[in-house]
Amino acid sequence: MRKKVIAGNWKMNLNLQESISLISGIKNGLRTLSSNVEVIICPPYTSLETASTLVKNSHVKLGAQNMYFEESGAYTGEISASMLKSVGCEYVILGHSERRTIFGETDSTINKKIHKALASGLLPIFCIGETLDEREKGITFDVVKRQVVEGLKNVDTENMKKIIIAYEPVWAIGTGKVASKEQAEEVHAFIRKELIALYQSDVAEQIIIQYGGSVKPDNAVELLSQPNIDGALVGGACLKVDSFLGIIKAC
Ligand code: 13P
Repeated sequence: MRKKVIAGNWKMNLNLQESISLISGIKNGLRTLSSNVEVIICPPYTSLETASTLVKNSHVKLGAQNMYFEESGAYTGEISASMLKSVGCEYVILGHSERRTIFGETDSTINKKIHKALASGLLPIFCIGETLDEREKGITFDVVKRQVVEGLKNVDTENMKKIIIAYEPVWAIGTGKVASKEQAEEVHAFIRKELIALYQSDVAEQIIIQYGGSVKPDNAVELLSQPNIDGALVGGACLKVDSFLGIIKAC
């Protein structure tokens, strides 16, 4: 039985004061909620250190939204894996579609980031997913397979066990157009089949595969009850205490 993992990707939202207030609300809400769901929050860089102090001794884990694959040096504006570790991050989101489309990240840069994160003791939340154009062309499985194979190139079995995969169809992100449970489950099952081919079934069966794209409290139950959907990577709905807790309750 895989546990459920709910992660909140805050994206470029909430200043420090707003971050403190959201985290307090989440912690208070979780106190009255007996749940064995793993909860991860991924605030912007500027709130990470404070967030790390606030989530200490709670069930909430901390992640960042991105990092660079070099250790240090002349990379103006970038943040390294060891910097994220030093402020208490356990997780890092890598390969989000907004990083791919707006900032030009490729499968190959994402692969380098995955290796650097793992070598630095960070657990990657590795995002994949097709665009609307790719879905309409009928190449969803080809795209997702390429992202899995290229993104995970040279990742060994022991390291694979540390990775969470987030399937986020790009057309469902921030659009309110959630994938149907059948559409999502079909791709999740395909991803697991690819993982079995790459890593054998005992490893593939352990891997958490989250769904992301317009997840809300009212659609979470049907998505999360699919056999291969092990959690959610939540955008908009993670910025409000009630909706984020509502999704956790759905588990
Ligand atoms: P929304 O939940 O706002 O659609 O965002 C999903 C997402 O991109 C999470 O990483």
